[in-house]
Amino acid sequence: MSTATKEILDLNRFDASRTEGFPPDLAERVSRRQAAFGASSVLFYEQPIEMVRARGAYMYDVNGRKYLDVYNNVPSVGHCHPKVVEAVARQVGELNIHTRYLNRVVEAYSEKLLSTFPAGLSNVVMTCTGSESNDLAMRIARIATGAEGFIVTEAAYHGNTALVTEISPSSLRKRKPAPFVAIIPAPTARDGMSVEESFAASVAGAISDLNSRGIGLAALIIDTIFSSDGIYADPAGFLKAATDVVHRAGGLLIADEVQPGFGRTGGGLWGFERHGVTPDIVTMGKPMGNGFPMGGVVTRPELLKTFCEETGYFNTFGGNPVAAAAGHAVLKVIEEEELVARANTVGAYFRQSLTDLWATHAEIGEVRGAGLFIGLDFVDPENGAPDTALATHAINQLKQNGILIGAAGKYGATLKIRPPLCFSVEDADLFTGTLDSILKLH
Ligand SMILES: Cc1ncc(COP(=O)(O)O)c(C=O)c1O
Repeated sequence: MSTATKEILDLNRFDASRTEGFPPDLAERVSRRQAAFGASSVLFYEQPIEMVRARGAYMYDVNGRKYLDVYNNVPSVGHCHPKVVEAVARQVGELNIHTRYLNRVVEAYSEKLLSTFPAGLSNVVMTCTGSESNDLAMRIARIATGAEGFIVTEAAYHGNTALVTEISPSSLRKRKPAPFVAIIPAPTARDGMSVEESFAASVAGAISDLNSRGIGLAALIIDTIFSSDGIYADPAGFLKAATDVVHRAGGLLIADEVQPGFGRTGGGLWGFERHGVTPDIVTMGKPMGNGFPMGGVVTRPELLKTFCEETGYFNTFGGNPVAAAAGHAVLKVIEEEELVARANTVGAYFRQSLTDLWATHAEIGEVRGAGLFIGLDFVDPENGAPDTALATHAINQLKQNGILIGAAGKYGATLKIRPPLCFSVEDADLFTGTLDSILKLH
């Protein structure tokens, strides 16, 4: 049992100093990779896997071994979905340019995407990644409010640019958070307060802190399913009071939908919808192109106008015709295959079977989530402390049994259950049954 805090990129990370016993071919591949990528190389698992293809909710390694994917939210409508593949292939053979020409594929997509947002959120800026989207959102918020400060949760991850790394406490190793950042706990009920009350109280305290330091509040930025904090979804609506506190203080709400967006939470296309709040800025990424790299920022026209009056913004690749074709195909597949409803029903079934498992294993501390985004905590049954070692053991044992999964949370003791949305109840049964056997043998 260990309770040290963990950095998100360290969770389930391959340790390059431990290659003894690897088959010679794998040892050679790993050392070539390390030689090329150096210290920045991050691989998963005690023994990394070489992947060669994937389809639906399954991936296949170089030896033809099949793995159930319970980890990847990027190929959200299913790995290599034929309709997305066809749309990308058709467009890449037709026209692929930067974004300074009129193009009907791009226009049709942006209108379709915007039609999924509340009425006031009617402008979109296309980017290539979630990090770029959050970077732009932060700059828009600063210019709109004239303030510099951001409030973030304690194990948040919002991306990799210089600015966004500052609001990603889970990425900071030796460095302390920047002075313009106020860090609050993940949303849980505390000190006799409900989740909604305690989260709003944390936000109010952080605003006072930023004001007393002369920094002021630009925005509260939250991943609306709190993925890297360990998945906090309930009760739906708990973001309302905090949003009011932020708005009364003249700040903005930035909803980072990079993880929960595009139907995952089963309560609409966007995670913020479950909470009945309307953000001022929404950022998107990962599942937007089902693997084609794309991201976006949706906001109110006046916020974007104020930003553009101060600063030019151009993105060579953001929203190019191939990206638009991919993104449009993703939205169509979500509609045609009713994937939001599926995330809701399969997710509810999956959560229930994991909750039943919790009743029979004292090492499971809690099961939380919404739709097909579920967190399962491992704890020491003696004292309830987070059990990172057991999470790591479970992740590697699941891999041995052909199931891919990752961890989350401040201590890396939470299983981050986040499969493609085409996941079935049979897939859920396979996962739950395998985890049950692993815990029985532990
Ligand atoms: C919540 C959240 N926001 C933003 C990002 C950054 O996205 P990207 O890696 O596409 O830059 C991530 C990536 O993991 C994320 O989880």
